[in-house]
Amino acid sequence: MNSAAFVVVGGTSGIGLEITRRLATENFRVVVVSRSAGSVAELAGVTHLQADVTRGEIDAGSFPDRIQGLVYCPGSIRLRPFHRLKEADFLADFQINLLGAVKAIQACLPGLKKADDTASIVLFSTVAVATGMPFHASIASAKGALEGLTRSLAAEFAPKIRVNAIAPSLTDTNLAKTLLSDDGKRSAAADRHPLKRFGNPGDIAAAATFLLEDSSSWVTGQVIAVDGGMGALRTFK
Ligand SMILES: NC(=O)c1ccc[n+]([C@@H]2O[C@H](COP(=O)([O-])OP(=O)(O)OC[C@H]3O[C@@H](n4cnc5c(N)ncnc54)[C@H](OP(=O)(O)O)[C@@H]3O)[C@@H](O)[C@H]2O)c1
Repeated sequence: MNSAAFVVVGGTSGIGLEITRRLATENFRVVVVSRSAGSVAELAGVTHLQADVTRGEIDAGSFPDRIQGLVYCPGSIRLRPFHRLKEADFLADFQINLLGAVKAIQACLPGLKKADDTASIVLFSTVAVATGMPFHASIASAKGALEGLTRSLAAEFAPKIRVNAIAPSLTDTNLAKTLLSDDGKRSAAADRHPLKRFGNPGDIAAAATFLLEDSSSWVTGQVIAVDGGMGALRTFK
């Protein structure tokens, strides 16, 4: 077993589960934090800590003494016309996307500071921050705040801890299931992307593991788009 340990908050489903699987395959120790363990604790080297990041504190007592990397995955997709969004919707999106990440980083900070060499934090934004999209006002506001947190902490924690975010477009996970629930929606979603498909958890996990590894040791304070070209390209002729 590799001595380095990682914490993956939200490592039981979708993108986080794929990251957890990849780290476990490389024989790293992984502590997964989420509300329910599912099958993740059956993976070799993976332990599960039950916590709801929107309630109470995360029990840092059961974290490894030295933490090489933290990934924070919990998020939301609340797409609604602006006139139907209530203050409570904005607050709920802010709570899970921003304040949950703050809580996780604070719980892991002592361990990250003790990492061998440097440590890495990976957060998740969305393509809808840099590119305006209808019905995304609440989630784009919360993720925009998360991008601000990414750059602020990257500056504050340099050179010991690198902090980066990934901004995916639509990816086939539980979170996005209502947007990809039938063949018509799936083909329309694929067609909207310049690369003519929506994402899968592996597309995003590959970028996340790069950001956790030494091969990205000169990368910090970045928001990396992994979005099938959605944010940067217009391919109509
Ligand atoms: N999928 C997309 O299309 C898409 C697009 C853009 C951005 N993103 C972002 O990518 C990130 C990962 O998304 P995903 O699609 O992989 O999500 P997902 O499949 O829904 O997985 C979310 C994970 O977070 C955990 N979680 C949720 N609420 C929690 C809470 N209150 N406390 C503790 N853990 C909680 C879940 O486990 P439990 O249920 O056991 O708690 C699960 O492990 C999110 O931040 C999302 O905003 C996704």
